[in-house]
Amino acid sequence: MNADARMKIVFLTPEMAPLAKTGGLADVAGALPGYLSRNPRLEVIAVMPFHREVRKKNPPLKQRFPQLEVKWPGQEKSFSVYEFQADGFRVYLVDNRHYFDRDYLYGTPEGDYPDNGQRFAFFSLAALETLRALSFKPDIIHAHDWQSALSFAYLRHLRFPDGFFAETRLLFTIHNLAYQGLFPPEILTQAGLPERLFNPEDLEFYGRVNYLKAGLFYSDAISTVSPTYSQEIQTPEFGCGLEGVLRKRSDRLFGILNGIDYQEWNPETDPALPAHYSKNDLAGKSVCRMELLRYFNFPVESTRPVVGLVSRLAGQKGFDLLVKSLDDLLKKELYLIILGTGEAEIQNLLLQAQNKYPDRFGLKIAFDDRLARLIYAGSDFFLIPSRYEPCGLTQMYSLRYGTVPVVRSTGGLKDTVSEFNPATLRGNGFLFQPYQTEALLEAVGRALTFYRKEPFWSRLVANGLNCDFSWEKSAEDYFQLYSRMLTWPAARSS
Ligand code: ADP
Ligand code: GLC
Repeated sequence: MNADARMKIVFLTPEMAPLAKTGGLADVAGALPGYLSRNPRLEVIAVMPFHREVRKKNPPLKQRFPQLEVKWPGQEKSFSVYEFQADGFRVYLVDNRHYFDRDYLYGTPEGDYPDNGQRFAFFSLAALETLRALSFKPDIIHAHDWQSALSFAYLRHLRFPDGFFAETRLLFTIHNLAYQGLFPPEILTQAGLPERLFNPEDLEFYGRVNYLKAGLFYSDAISTVSPTYSQEIQTPEFGCGLEGVLRKRSDRLFGILNGIDYQEWNPETDPALPAHYSKNDLAGKSVCRMELLRYFNFPVESTRPVVGLVSRLAGQKGFDLLVKSLDDLLKKELYLIILGTGEAEIQNLLLQAQNKYPDRFGLKIAFDDRLARLIYAGSDFFLIPSRYEPCGLTQMYSLRYGTVPVVRSTGGLKDTVSEFNPATLRGNGFLFQPYQTEALLEAVGRALTFYRKEPFWSRLVANGLNCDFSWEKSAEDYFQLYSRMLTWPAARSS
């Protein structure tokens, strides 16, 4: 790269807010490229699949390439590419109806789509073809999660004409190590990759092909979304069988805490809220609280504390612990409000509990961004009992909306929430460590003792509102990492 050229970065991501979202990765992929683009030394674009959810939202799109092809043995070969202008960067959408025009991104509540192996191999290869068609020769390919990881296998093991990617450095970000993309051995030939990659030093993992390993093995650097998680994943408890690999690469493994988008998530302007507020005037927060109580048919004048939770319904998020703790939790004078979608089994357990406690447990099974924002704003406390949490954004949204988080001390939760100390009036929330009912109840109990008790309550809420988790710092950390990567010799053969 010559000295005054801008560094070219491309994000490969399976989801991105506001176009298509199942979780925090979408928020990160929707915000970070924009913040990076503010750096005059960087040119950033992103590539993602054209999911049905994007089509339904009908954003302004330009067709960029009516027909491109991937050269692979798979049945679907052709795709088109649409361009979307996001805030500060362009997004290229890989359109193949057979693979991506579906009700969900990855699977139904009953389970994953059976052809996810083909779908995301296709996406990974099509993304690289898109870059060639655009003549966008990246300095860094920054791929996110297993759905884009296979692009690194293609880069290492296929030859691209003219050494197009010969100088490209590869950064892989793990947003969640538990989702690895595991498929039967035949997927390698179906995806057009050499069979010899079916060995433990490459993509084999306990008899299956592991897409995530392509991200871990073939990258120049690996990052994950909080410093604590970057340490945790090197241990058997959190490493999901990959702790050995990660330990071996620990000199190239970095933990960079996610930020949140302070413009997009702002109680002073959020159009989803019935009233606005700021740290200098919290009156609007009470209006949001009443609206939230009304939404769930609870008495709006009630002074009982409201505990909110917005989450994917997945094992990771601690619902087994929560369900076990519910009888005791709901003996306390509080309202519990949960918004979530995901695994059918968790959904059913929550529905049963809601039938049992209709006067104090409000449950909505849906993906509803508007209601999520009302919960961040209208709750007094926000509960996150996660078994593990790579970063977690919902505790940061809560803090931003003046709501006090009560969280399990793990991963990014540990890096963002600090225990409130009544003696010093410092700290922004409450934490518990053992994954046990008693610990959870004890932390909620501790939190409730300060509810509306002065001088504690005002300070606790203010401490949260004064936190700064904006993207600027993390974007600078990524820029530093990209710059460092360019000083390392390029490792691949294409
Ligand atoms: P994860 O990515 O593991 O799901 P994060 O805390 O990083 O967890 O991000 C979750 C994101 O998804 C947040 O933006 C949150 O508001 C959103 N979210 C999760 N479940 C829902 C839901 N049912 N409705 C609306 N938004 C949701
Ligand atoms: C993953 C993690 C979550 C993290 C998000 C964004 O989905 O589960 O903890 O905040 O990615 O990085």
